[in-house]
Amino acid sequence: MSRQLATSADQIESRRCPDGLDPSKLPGHIAVIMDGNGRWANARGLPRVMGHRAGVEALKTTLRLCNDWGIGALTAYAFSTENWSRPGEEVNFLMTLFERVLQRELNALESEQVRIRFLGDLEALPPRLQALIADATERTASNRGIHFNVCTNYGGRRELVRASRRLAERVASGELQPSQIDENALAAELYTVGERDPDLLIRTSGEQRISNFLLWQLAYAEIHVTEVCWPDFGADALLSALTDYQSRRRRFGGLDGVMPDVLGS
Ligand code: FPP
Repeated sequence: MSRQLATSADQIESRRCPDGLDPSKLPGHIAVIMDGNGRWANARGLPRVMGHRAGVEALKTTLRLCNDWGIGALTAYAFSTENWSRPGEEVNFLMTLFERVLQRELNALESEQVRIRFLGDLEALPPRLQALIADATERTASNRGIHFNVCTNYGGRRELVRASRRLAERVASGELQPSQIDENALAAELYTVGERDPDLLIRTSGEQRISNFLLWQLAYAEIHVTEVCWPDFGADALLSALTDYQSRRRRFGGLDGVMPDVLGS
């Protein structure tokens, strides 16, 4: 692990599945709503944006732990289609933060074999950020480690509208029959194409909402809500989430022991 991606060494040690967890029952894909940055900062008398800066460290920790523990994919909600309505200063800070983090961490992500993709309407992002995203996506595309998806200018409803429109265009062009539209066809038009659906959704800071995140993909995810604000989310909080996840009986609408095929690719 390069030093750039590494955070506090005592909190993170390189290892596979930690003691107490069943390695055969780890989630293949974790989605996370990184909430509570502003409250974390307010509670310390800091400007809200300092919460976002601290949130980057928590994200690096979480990504590294998931990669070390053999979790296949981590999808983080970094900026929603609704987040543009925040004060301009905060939006600009976040865009610059994304740029800086990408510049600073790309080498580490590459050497850690992380495959990074940005999901959302990327054309609305500042051109410099778009260029960094394109570079990072290309440079890590063939990496074999964790799939790290950063939802940026992402909205679940907008994603579904976009997918519907793309299907309609294919029908209009004669490429597709309406009868060929099924769950697989729709999933193939989502930003997450090729990724299995999340098994576990983690939301920090106590809010019990989905907030327009992965509306299709979270259909059967287990939901873990923690009171911890995102900047304080670390190894202990992740371990609690995984322990909680492993205590659940997933039935996917069926019966115990019978697993319908609903998890996506
Ligand atoms: C929600 O907390 C958090 C965000 C809207 C931004 C999250 C972004 C990061 C942690 C940076 C990630 C960086 C990269 C490069 C992927 P909030 O501001 O809504 O908190 P509050 O509910 O306490 O106000």
